[in-house]
Formats: sequence, C-alpha cells, structure tokens
Amino acid sequence: MNTTQYLDANKQRFLDELLELLKIPSVSADSNHNADTVRCAEAVKQSLLDAGCTHAEICKTKGHPVVYAERLVDPKLPTVLVYGHYDVQPPDPLELWSSGPFEPVVKDGKIYARGACDDKGQMFMHVKALECMVKTNSQSCNIKFMIEGEEEVGSSNLGKFLKANKEKLKADIVLVSDTSMISMENPSLETGLRGLAYLEVEVTGPNRDLHSGVYGGAVPNPITLLAKMIASLHDKNNKIKVRGFYRDVVELTAEERKSLNTAPFDLDEYKRDLEIDDVWGEMGYTTLERTGVRPTLELNGIWGGYTGEGAKTVLPSKAYAKISMRLVPNQNSKKIAKLFTKHFEKIAPPGVKVKVTELHGGEPVVTPTDGEAYRAAAKAIEATFGKKPIPTRGGGSIPIVALFEKVLGLKTVLMGFGLDSDNIHSPNEHYGLQNFYKGIETIPYFHQYYAELKKSK
Ligand code: BES
Ligand code: MN
Ligand code: MN
Repeated sequence: MNTTQYLDANKQRFLDELLELLKIPSVSADSNHNADTVRCAEAVKQSLLDAGCTHAEICKTKGHPVVYAERLVDPKLPTVLVYGHYDVQPPDPLELWSSGPFEPVVKDGKIYARGACDDKGQMFMHVKALECMVKTNSQSCNIKFMIEGEEEVGSSNLGKFLKANKEKLKADIVLVSDTSMISMENPSLETGLRGLAYLEVEVTGPNRDLHSGVYGGAVPNPITLLAKMIASLHDKNNKIKVRGFYRDVVELTAEERKSLNTAPFDLDEYKRDLEIDDVWGEMGYTTLERTGVRPTLELNGIWGGYTGEGAKTVLPSKAYAKISMRLVPNQNSKKIAKLFTKHFEKIAPPGVKVKVTELHGGEPVVTPTDGEAYRAAAKAIEATFGKKPIPTRGGGSIPIVALFEKVLGLKTVLMGFGLDSDNIHSPNEHYGLQNFYKGIETIPYFHQYYAELKKSK
C-alpha cells in the first residue's frame, strides 16, 4: 500500500479527527481562552504521538505553549522541520457565522470552522501525512514538528524559543503550510511573505466625556481629529505619507514585475466576488503587485465615543485606532514603527494629545526558488495536481519565518493549500475537503523528492 492508498482508506477518520481539533476554541488573543489553548496544545501533541512520532512534548513559554515532536529515522537522511500554528483568530462578529465557529460542519464539500484553513486544517495535513508515511513504511526524511500557539498574536515568544532550542530544532529546511494557492486548477507556491508593523493610537481631547450640546463646537473632538489624521496618511495617489516610509523598499525589475503579472488573475471576478465596483491602491501598480510586493498601511479598527444601541449625545474624551503596515524587502518593522510614531505625533493638531503604542512586528521574507526544497515542493505539486505550480508573492505575514533564517540559518518553503476565498480571519472561515486531502497526498511526495534531490546534490 502506498501513502495515497492509505489516505483513501482513512479519509473519513482523518476528517473526523480534524473536526475534533476544530472544536477547541484556541483563540490566542483572548486570555479567557488560555485553558483552551493549553487543551489544544495537548490535543496536537497526542495527535502527533498517534501519528507515529517517537517523541512529543509541550514546551512552556511566557505565552501559549509550543508543541514539539519528532520522528527521526536515519541520521544520514535530511531533516525537515514542519512549522504550523494551532492558535486561531477571534471568531467575532459571531452573528455573521452561519454555524458556530467552534461547531465544525461539512457543507458543500467544505469544512466550516474558525481555524479550518488557518491553520489547524493545514497544520493537521502534516500530522496525517506523517501517519500515511509511517503506516506504509515510506518516511523519506527525518521529521520534526514545531507547532506554536501564538502566531495570530505575533509570535512574540517564539524567537526566544528558537534561540534556546537551536540543537533540538536543527534541520535542513522548514516546511510550512499556512499560505494560499491561486486555485485548485492553478496551483501555486508563495515565494515571499510581507512583514508587519502593528500599532495602536490613542487620541485624547478633553479630560472627560462631555455633553455634545453644551461643549460641542467649542472643544476638539478626538474622533473628528483622529479621522482627519488617518485620512492624511495616504496622498491622492494612495502613497503612504509617513516620511521615509519607502526609503528601504526594494523595487522590482521590469522583468520581475512582468513575470509576477503573468499569474492568472481576473480583476472583474475579483471585484464581483467582493461586491466592490472598483479596486483601490497605490497608483502605478497592479492588484497583484499591491498585495504581493508593495508595502501598505491599513486601518484594522477604529473606535471611540458611544457605539451602543440608540443615541447618546456625547463628545468623547478619547478615540482609538489600530493600524498595521505590511512591509516588503528591505523594510524593517522596528524602523517603520518609529517612523510612523514620529509622523503621527507630528501631524497631531493642537488641542489633542496622541499616544502611539507598538503592538508587534515581523520582517518580510523572500524564499528561494532555486534550492532543493522549492524544487521538491514544485515536483510534489506537479505529481498530485498534474500541473507545475506558479510562483507567487503572498500578501500575508508569518512573523517567525524571518527568524528561522536569522536564528537557525534555515530557509523555508511555503507549501500552502488554502484559497484566498477561504475567509480566513473572517466569519464562515472554511477549508475545502479537496484541499485538505490534496495536501495530505502531496506532503509525502515533498519528503520523497526532497530526500532524492538532497542526495543527488
Ligand atoms: N496564515 C496567515 C498568513 C497568510 C495568510 C499568509 C494567507 C499568506 C496567505 C497567518 O496566520 C496570519 O494571519 N498572519 C498574520 C500576522 C500576525 C502577526 C497577526 C497576518 O498576516 O495578519
Ligand atoms: Mn496562519
Ligand atoms: Mn492567520
């Protein structure tokens, strides 16, 4: 029996096991769920042992724990470090879900649940792929797993974990399934991730909430002024006005831009899907460039004053916003956060005080396409999808990936099976059964081809 046949014979059980994992609300951002993240780490550890790992442990950190496991078969074979995350984004707004975010259901060939795609479903493919390899006696590389619980909150404790566990994490390559493909018909491999600088701003007007009739019109309203400050962050060409923001940005060559834009992409379909009558972004760049290789500044949340039911005539004391900037090579998240803070303090109009707090950051990465790992991933995809994958640049961020290189000296291959339409971070997140099974089918080929390519080097 080969791995694909083993998968075919165990499909329903693999799915049922994933559904159990999806029931655990491992929301890393919400401390009310701390016990759930621990429970989830334990479930992941158990699943790794059940799949055939010879060692698995839960490693405490200052935040949510890391699950480490391994199945080493032969010191002469290369070692693949599989990275993923068991934590998920908060599920709200709850009322927009068709079924409970932690009551997974399968509908129209898709698994609906928070974490179905990002990243429990994708991470779990590696657990089940290991089982397939173990049960068919065909594991071709040593495999280590590092599954963390803080990716969705910036992986702030994982860098330290890497530094403290260099020996344990020794490997030849990191393999990650936490990104997306163009479509099942057009498989692709992401070759880069953007960095991130995430900040919160607080604008204070008067020292207390005021009656908006008694004081309104005479006192600075922090919401109005924050809105104006925010509106000034982009110019008329939608370029970011933070001084020095673009200074370190590596511009693509004409050739690179051309190749990036050959990826299949239908702008009309994109707009139709999102029900927008036009796209928006930096002038002079295509949508694929805007999401792949250009830096951005986005508002992630804005609040202040009264937002409850009905009306309350208040002139609030404070207004807030959460702002994130996506970064590209060679921008640096700390440097950008400093530039933003300086800029935001400078544009504050008289009458208000501003406070800027850095929440977290991560650095951009570009992954090589000429190494054995990328070639193994491309061959694996070709074997199961019948088509060579298209290299793309993804817009998302996985903060730890830059540190794999910096701390462990390891390159990463991003072999993700999600789709942009999976609603990750959004209500009704889902993951195609096909994507789940194709992933499990493809992963053993990666290990096989990687071992072969390494050997013949
Ligand atoms: N899996 C995503 C990143 C991703 C999604 C990459 C789709 C490529 C395509 C990851 O879980 C994520 O959401 N990361 C956060 C960063 C984090 C610091 C909050 C992100 O990109 O916003
Ligand atoms: Mn993820
Ligand atoms: Mn995510």
